[in-house]
Amino acid sequence: MAEPQPHGQDTPGDLSSQNAHADRDVMPDAAVIDVAHEAARRAGAIIKEGLARALQVDYKGEGANDPVTDVDRRSEAAIAETIRAHFPDHRILSEEGTTGGQDPRWRWIVDPLDGTVNYAHRLPFSCVSIGVEHDGEIVAGVVYNPLAEELFAAEQGKSATLNGAPIHVSATSELRRALLTSAFGPWEAGGRRFYRARALGPYVQALRDLGSAALELCYVAAGRIDGMGGSSLNAWDVAAGLLIVRQAGGQVTDPYGDPFKVDDKSLVVSNGILHGAIMARLHDASEAIPPKDATDQAKEPVSPNTPPTTTTATAADTAQGPSHP
Ligand code: IPD
Ligand code: CA
Ligand code: CA
Repeated sequence: MAEPQPHGQDTPGDLSSQNAHADRDVMPDAAVIDVAHEAARRAGAIIKEGLARALQVDYKGEGANDPVTDVDRRSEAAIAETIRAHFPDHRILSEEGTTGGQDPRWRWIVDPLDGTVNYAHRLPFSCVSIGVEHDGEIVAGVVYNPLAEELFAAEQGKSATLNGAPIHVSATSELRRALLTSAFGPWEAGGRRFYRARALGPYVQALRDLGSAALELCYVAAGRIDGMGGSSLNAWDVAAGLLIVRQAGGQVTDPYGDPFKVDDKSLVVSNGILHGAIMARLHDASEAIPPKDATDQAKEPVSPNTPPTTTTATAADTAQGPSHP
């Protein structure tokens, strides 16, 4: 009989290992990766099917300009149903508000559709993101883009994978050869996102905003891009991608160089080699980095359905805001 494949060897279509844990003595986190795969694949089928038909689009958040579609909600329902079927006690933090059980040790952090603006415009760059936290640490993560049939995954202590094959960050060592992306919240005050682009843009090969923070983290992990930065993010945008990029050799900090925690709002991600150079550029351009205690760096966990916090303009923002929209 064929040996069950290690979890890292699963392909998107291969769920053969998902029942294997039933007859093995495994750690709980070996089982959660299987369930995360199953949930991501169910959600991915909904996302793929939804792109081919009319969408119901509503708006939420700051300025009521943040789209949410019927696909976001159906994807979330399928993921929650899958989690509850296996782990009814586990807590769930999911963007559209679905909750789970009460077990304080386990928290599933779910973005049922990351890249909704892309999706609503039929731009095929979106994914489902599922991170699993145990005792405050992300122990498993799956990011699945069904439109490209690409499933990124990681478990604590193991190599990150893309469709089952190990991935690693790039070896780019010069900023001028680096392709970076940004996932800056559109609601940032005073045009700070433009300061950040201005701080880095002239010094890198190119700067993009791809529209899915979760996929951008995975693209750093796969060496397709050399770094990314984001702000006004929520835990569901980054939980899975954080583990994936770290297990692929990447570095993740907050904009001050301190370790990034999943409920932080802003991050800098790189292949490690370029981290210092990126941070130096951001800090040289003082407008790009607000003071550490600005609301943009709120440490409080964000409740589902809570509109993203509007950043209070800093002195740097207000001083230069009008000339930099
Ligand atoms: C958004 C994407 C985007 C980032 C935004 C997020 P959503 O998530 O990750 O890249 O810049 O801040 O809100 O709304 O598509 O799930
Ligand atoms: Ca998101
Ligand atoms: Ca979302």
